[in-house]
Amino acid sequence: SPIPPPDLKTCSRAHINDQEEVSYSCCPPKPEDLDSVPYYKFPSMTKLRIRPPAHAADEEYIAKYQLATSRMRELDKDPFDPLGFKQQANIHCAYCNGAYKVGGKELQVHFSWLFFPFHRWYLYFYERILGSLINDPTFGLPYWNWDHPKGMRLPPMFDVPGSSLYDEKRNQSHRNGTIVDLGHFGTEVQTTQLQTMTNNLTLMYRQMITNAPCPLLFFGQPYPLGTDPSPGMGTIENIPHTPIHIWTGDNPRQPHGENMGNFYSAGLDPVFYCHHANVDRMWSEWKQIGGKRRDLTQKDWLNSEFFFYDENRNPFRVKVRDCLDTKKMGYDYAPMATPWRNFKP
Ligand code: C2O
Repeated sequence: SPIPPPDLKTCSRAHINDQEEVSYSCCPPKPEDLDSVPYYKFPSMTKLRIRPPAHAADEEYIAKYQLATSRMRELDKDPFDPLGFKQQANIHCAYCNGAYKVGGKELQVHFSWLFFPFHRWYLYFYERILGSLINDPTFGLPYWNWDHPKGMRLPPMFDVPGSSLYDEKRNQSHRNGTIVDLGHFGTEVQTTQLQTMTNNLTLMYRQMITNAPCPLLFFGQPYPLGTDPSPGMGTIENIPHTPIHIWTGDNPRQPHGENMGNFYSAGLDPVFYCHHANVDRMWSEWKQIGGKRRDLTQKDWLNSEFFFYDENRNPFRVKVRDCLDTKKMGYDYAPMATPWRNFKP
């Protein structure tokens, strides 16, 4: 059977690893009526939110996004406001560091077929909250276009100290336009920028096309209720999703690669949501390649559920089956060329 929404009553301390607990609670504020959290219905909308590539965003867009994020950070004054920036980051911590149990086992939304749908729903609400904080119902999150040579660096809007989009806990030698290595697992490879970009495109070809000809290889392994968490991840979750976390996080100065390099802290870096917008975009791109590249059809996947607060602070349960079409959800991606399609090794 499918994974049900997490049980908020038994939400407990999250842990960083086997030895260390997260020093604060990542559990969300409990809704008043825990036993009757309703199913989410899409609000009516008139215009799609279009998510732009972060490297190409104009100043007006950047100013809006910065303002929305600083308003979200201000909500942290009430530590139990579900719309606060830290509460939003704690969602990731709770779902990924063992705070929730389902079927007597720890819930983990990584390393399985829950990876893509969980993060899609997570960003969906995050985007709507930002939009509502600036009264812009068409606001779309930017995507870190790391699969295109023009986007293969930390997007400049996140690299401005003092801005709400900046985060201190990043690897300082990966700032100021350093080219990202999409295969980075901690060691710096000494090579030319051009070579790194070429390697990145070849790697994208491999993860999107060669290694992911069918759904389970792309999405990750089945994770029905009662089975052990982390049965196995899909190609994109493995690479480049994880390398970008490690590359961005402050491995040199922080004990656990904070912020981006660890599940419990990743959401504390605003670039997390921009990174995941591109991960989410890869889901749409992958389906467009064709062949057997389609959404999974297993009921245990389609009927798995998560819990989120919407932009009006109302709690909801959502199903995987309702997040398969981004346009039905009210958003789409501004198109960009996908040059990796021509990088057959
Ligand atoms: Cu939930 Cu990029 O990790």
